[in-house]
Amino acid sequence: MTIRAVVKGVGHYLPERVVENSYFESIVDTSDEWIRARSGIERRRFAAEGETTSQMAATAAREALSDAGLDANDIDAIVLATSTPDLTFPSVATMVQSELGMTHGFAFDVQAVCAGFVFALTNANALILSGQAKRVLVIGAETFSRILDMTDRSTCVLFGDGAGALILEAAEGTGTTEDRGILSADLNSDGRMREMLYVDGGVSTNQQSGFLRMQGNQLFRQAVGKLAETAETALTKVGLCDDDVDWIVPHQANIRIIQGTAKKLGVPMERVIVTVQEHGNTSAASIPLALYEGRKQGKIKDGDLLVTEAIGGGLAWGAVALRW
Ligand code: ACO
Repeated sequence: MTIRAVVKGVGHYLPERVVENSYFESIVDTSDEWIRARSGIERRRFAAEGETTSQMAATAAREALSDAGLDANDIDAIVLATSTPDLTFPSVATMVQSELGMTHGFAFDVQAVCAGFVFALTNANALILSGQAKRVLVIGAETFSRILDMTDRSTCVLFGDGAGALILEAAEGTGTTEDRGILSADLNSDGRMREMLYVDGGVSTNQQSGFLRMQGNQLFRQAVGKLAETAETALTKVGLCDDDVDWIVPHQANIRIIQGTAKKLGVPMERVIVTVQEHGNTSAASIPLALYEGRKQGKIKDGDLLVTEAIGGGLAWGAVALRW
């Protein structure tokens, strides 16, 4: 018997405040045309004053629970990906646990920046396959607006806030790639490239939360090759290839990276879920938000083969192949 971690529900949360590209024309030397042409971003959401990562995560989680027809106490574990926690500790995951009224099980955060959701999904899958948990709530939630240097035009225009959540449940499979659920994963990191994307503050350095710093063009050069390679590795591990893929659900950093990766994989853009124009880069929240949108728009159907892929600070990158 093969155990699979099968998706039972999906949820999302986007803050009310919509920030159009034109807003940045008033604070830095940029233009709507530049932002659209170089990144594909048209607008993003920013959290309201006082609105936290845990609040957004809890709202997305409630929607995922309702989509799955489950209650918080049906869940054994919460794995939450974020780089923008409410506090240095405790974890955002434990805050969500309490907010949902979940009084048993365990909860912890995963930090792999924009690749966070892929790392969280892979950890949740391992918990299910090892029998540690039967149902896991996997969340990606971020308030990147709080770590943006609003005087740095090369970064402040790119990011947004939001949260997305999935429920994974243990189910019996046949051991073939026809099974629903997570089929394979591929994770990577290389700390030598940490200067390409980092936040210039932290507890053990300057006791500040700091601001995001990015060498965008260097990161861009790394992104397409690494994303295509990790997606192919995840597929190859279980004998699948690019032609088998119904949907690529990429991290939404830049439309040119998304297009370049799809081209390298030989998958037409009609089979790629794209939300970057509406959400900007929401880091660990971008993949679950894209899964939610793909589902809501009727694109992702039961039985479809999906590949999610992401790269972010670290560098850390990876991919998960799953059948919805
Ligand atoms: N408006 C106008 N001009 C700008 C802006 C702006 N907002 N930002 C930069 N420029 C200028 C630069 O100063 C530069 O000018 P110069 O030639 O006079 O020096 C010019 O535009 C070109 O800058 P580049 O950085 O080379 O532009 P590029 O085409 O590479 O696009 C971008 C920049 C959008 C940041 C791109 O490099 C990118 O998307 N990089 C990858 C980001 C990414 O993948 N992030 C994922 C991980 S994120 C995470 O983990 C949190």
